[in-house]
Parts: sequence; C-alpha cells; structure tokens
Amino acid sequence: MHIHISDSPAQVARSFAEFFEGWVKEKQGPLHIALSGGSTPAVLYRLWAAEFADLMDWEQLHFYWGDERCVPPDDEESNYKMADDLFLSPLQIPSCNIHRMRGELPPEAEAGRYGEELKDNLPLINGLPVFDLIILGMGGDGHTASIFPGQMELLQSQEICALAKHPVSGQERITLTGPVINNARTVVFLVTGKSKQERLQEILGEGGERAQQYPAAHIKPAHGQLHWFLDQQAAHKVSV
Ligand code: 6PG
Repeated sequence: MHIHISDSPAQVARSFAEFFEGWVKEKQGPLHIALSGGSTPAVLYRLWAAEFADLMDWEQLHFYWGDERCVPPDDEESNYKMADDLFLSPLQIPSCNIHRMRGELPPEAEAGRYGEELKDNLPLINGLPVFDLIILGMGGDGHTASIFPGQMELLQSQEICALAKHPVSGQERITLTGPVINNARTVVFLVTGKSKQERLQEILGEGGERAQQYPAAHIKPAHGQLHWFLDQQAAHKVSV
C-alpha cells in the first residue's frame, strides 16, 4: 500500500494527475478506468481538462464508473454528468470510449447489463473483469463506491454490479461489487477533508477489528496495487 499526502485538495488532485500521467505513459492502451463521484474527483476532472489535454493520448483511455445514482444523465446528481461537464466533453473524449452506467434505466436490469458490458470489454480473471485502474472516494462513514456499512454483503457479492441504497436518502444506486474492485490492477482512493480523519486513522492505522465494519477497509486488490492520495486534513491522524 502506498500513501501520498499533499497540502490541500487541489494538491491531491495534482499529485494524482501527475501519477496518472506517468502511469498512462508507461502502459499500452486501451486502458480501462473506473471513475468516481464526489468532491475531490471534481477538482481532478477540472485539472485534467485545464492542464493535461496535450500531455496524454486520451483516445487510448476508456472510462467507466464505479458507481452511479439511478437518475438520468442530465440530472445534477449524476456522476456521469459531473465527469462529462468537467472533462469528457471539454477534452472531446470520443463517445465510444465512454461507458456509463445508465441511471435512467430500471436499476436491476441495468446492473446486469453493465456487468455484461464489462465482461465483454475487459480482460477476465476468475470470470471477473479486470480494470486497469479504479478511482474511489471514501465517505465519513467508511463507504466506498456505493458500498455502505449496512450493505457489507456487496463486498462478497457474486455479481459484477449490484443495486445499493444510500442509507440516509434512500436513493437507489448501482455499484461495482467488492470482488470486482479487488480484481483491479490498480485502485486509488482520493480522500480529503477533516470529516475523514477518524475513519482513516482506523482503516490505515491501528483500527484492527474495528476497522472491519467499514467497506473501504476491505478494498485490497488481490493482485494489484493500492494507493491512497490524502490531504493533510484527512491524514492528520494517520501515522506513516
Ligand atoms: C459517489 C461516490 C462516493 C464518494 C464518497 C466520497 O458517487 O458519491 O462514488 O463513494 O466517492 O462519498 O465523496 P467525497 O469525495 O465528496 O467526500
């Protein structure tokens, strides 16, 4: 596991963007990348569009999502819309490179369809798709993607994609399951802000058994790398 600590959310985004640029240059495409929703990715997406347009061969990158809200693609809540507004459209990423979860379709059928799309497009290990990179965030309750502490069974699901529910709003979500996330070649968490301090202390530190109640603590790629990009505030109680 690699922990990268930067001063601010903007610096976290920059640190990851530079890591990403080096990572892309070292690989042969196509590269299959799952995106996340959340606040730090928004900073990253703006930075990609503003400063990284000419630094990489974007056409070799295929974008998927780790989770999506069950809303239409033009809804302000849509993770796809956020990425589209902030970098996919500005960088003119070809539509054939964009593989979104269709939040406007009946959720159960869409979770199944997306799982099939992943099986068709990505290499498989043990029958599960292998992402080159999955970008994740973590909530203050320890959730990641849309795997919440009350739905720990999603960490062991036989499905590739599954239905989830936000514990407070009840909003329906579609999420990659734990086995697919842990099948990736590289998993990166982008986590910023004070509200994440306690969780990170437990998950990355001495949380022991207690940390097991948090979905994010179960993300450990079986044959890949795990990176945490944190800002000073989030990392305050983490000893490295
Ligand atoms: C989403 C997510 C979710 C997010 C965390 C952290 O769609 O909201 O994918 O798992 O990454 O809630 O969000 P922040 O970066 O905004 O704290």
